[in-house]
Amino acid sequence: MTNLHGKVALVTGAASGLGAAAAWALAQAGAAVLLTDRDLAGEEVAGAMADKGLKAAFRLHDVTSEADWAAAVEHAISDFGRLDILVNNAGISGGRHELLDHSLEAWRTILSVNLDGVFLGLRHAGPRIAAAGGGSVINVSSILGKVGMPGAAAYCASKGGVTLLTKAAALEWAPHNIRVNSLHPGFIDTPLVSNALAARDDGNEVRVALMAAHPMARFGLPREIGEAVLFLASDASSFMTGAELVVDGGYTAQ
Ligand SMILES: NC(=O)c1ccc[n+]([C@@H]2O[C@H](COP(=O)([O-])OP(=O)(O)OC[C@H]3O[C@@H](n4cnc5c(N)ncnc54)[C@H](O)[C@@H]3O)[C@@H](O)[C@H]2O)c1
Repeated sequence: MTNLHGKVALVTGAASGLGAAAAWALAQAGAAVLLTDRDLAGEEVAGAMADKGLKAAFRLHDVTSEADWAAAVEHAISDFGRLDILVNNAGISGGRHELLDHSLEAWRTILSVNLDGVFLGLRHAGPRIAAAGGGSVINVSSILGKVGMPGAAAYCASKGGVTLLTKAAALEWAPHNIRVNSLHPGFIDTPLVSNALAARDDGNEVRVALMAAHPMARFGLPREIGEAVLFLASDASSFMTGAELVVDGGYTAQ
């Protein structure tokens, strides 16, 4: 059910963390994958995949740029002939901001990457996926798209926006055979989390407290999110659309 031979995927934010894990999982299931990122390090990830005989290419892509989106989608089509799967994964934590000290500029930066980026991805990739006969879009939200966290107002708002944007898109595109689901990871040990913790004087204490907030008493692994992306991308989830797939070691069950 998770065989993706003949399918083509575009994964944003694929130079690091969850995007790289998703790209590996999709390619190992047989898909050709265009990895995109604003960080050139994505070239190394795509190169390592190609070295293992997987179909992978990389393109520089800032998800806040409409022109970059148009070019990335064209690149997927010209490289691999079609587009079936979009993983809207690129995102930033944006740092810790108490609401009353939060600048409008920081708010807009976080919203533009985490929410506008997903909106643009849907608009640019949707028609191409429809032209391929339908497919699957996975929007990477967060547990913080379902529950709040102090100091993370813009991040929570952006991820909550992704949760509901996903449902609206799912309803509009069900007739076109495009499934659109959101994925809600708990804390996963990636540079996004480790850099945010490193920026705090009490980073080690916060890390321990965050782990303890997960009933499974650990952070997730990027691979565990890659597997969830593969599930949503493939026919294993063929009757799921507009759904929220939570992969959080029990964080939001409490
Ligand atoms: N790690 C976690 O605990 C966690 C939990 C829930 C949700 N998420 C979400 O998962 C996604 C991936 O996060 P991660 O933990 O792998 O982070 P990460 O920092 O390891 O990777 C994010 C990638 O996105 C890229 N990126 C950032 N802004 C971009 C832009 N404007 N255009 C293109 N690429 C851009 C970065 O260069 C980076 O390669 C994000 O949307 C994040 O909010 C992460």
